[in-house]
Amino acid sequence: MTPSPASSAAASDLWQHYDSNPARRVMNRIHWDWYQRTGPGAELLGDLAGLTAVELGAGAGHQAAHIATFLEPARLICLDSSPAQHANSRTLYGDIPGLEPVHTDAAAFLNRGPGTIDVAYSLFGALDFSEPRALLPALATALRPGGRLVFSTLGHYKGGGAPATECRAADIPTRRADGSPGTMRRWVLDTSVWEKLLAGHGFELSDTDTIRDPGPAGAPPMTTLVFRARRRGDDRTRRRRAATAASKAK
Ligand SMILES: C[S@@+](CC[C@H](N)C(=O)[O-])C[C@H]1O[C@@H](n2cnc3c(N)ncnc32)[C@H](O)[C@@H]1O
Repeated sequence: MTPSPASSAAASDLWQHYDSNPARRVMNRIHWDWYQRTGPGAELLGDLAGLTAVELGAGAGHQAAHIATFLEPARLICLDSSPAQHANSRTLYGDIPGLEPVHTDAAAFLNRGPGTIDVAYSLFGALDFSEPRALLPALATALRPGGRLVFSTLGHYKGGGAPATECRAADIPTRRADGSPGTMRRWVLDTSVWEKLLAGHGFELSDTDTIRDPGPAGAPPMTTLVFRARRRGDDRTRRRRAATAASKAK
């Protein structure tokens, strides 16, 4: 029998074994760092009230659940290209008001909605595993001028090797859902490479945080980079809010 496209996509899912059997846990805070235990939290996203936000590569949706619950954006699109991860987020958190799990590739989704997103973010998500020269232009398309992008990514390879000094992916061995060996591409880039990529694709860097953690017992030290940037252009959201506030004050 010929496998259906859906069943062959599920069998080749490279993320089936990640965070396997997750349980619902709406956390009191989120962390951007590798070990999920230090550094800043959701405040890096700014005020989300009334805005449309998107998490790129949300996995099971644990962080999106916190953000939808406590920061109350009008919409939080929680997207992931893995059939298994998307199913997890839908089952665990699909009932949270405003949270919308979507099964899609990040760049494909963003390219379909020019100027529709106020805030985009990723925690070791799609920005780590997609060609930045395709994903950043898609983000620049989807974000409104002045829209915010926040993402965390590895500051060096997991084994300790220095990050790439040009925009180049490494092949990471992994397992598909059916247990067969697979390879995923991961972009582990030096800060200066990310800064150049952001500037070259219509973003103005707000700041970069470097979070160094010596690691818990038996685990290696890890460095996380957190970038915050704005889509260049006229900030219509800020102007709209200022106009609303001014008219209410009258
Ligand atoms: C390391 S996991 C991180 C998940 C979540 N952010 C977390 O911290 O638990 C990376 C996730 O990104 C998703 N992903 C990778 N590339 C993607 C793409 N191009 N579009 C959408 N999701 C993607 C994977 O399916 C996976 O669920």
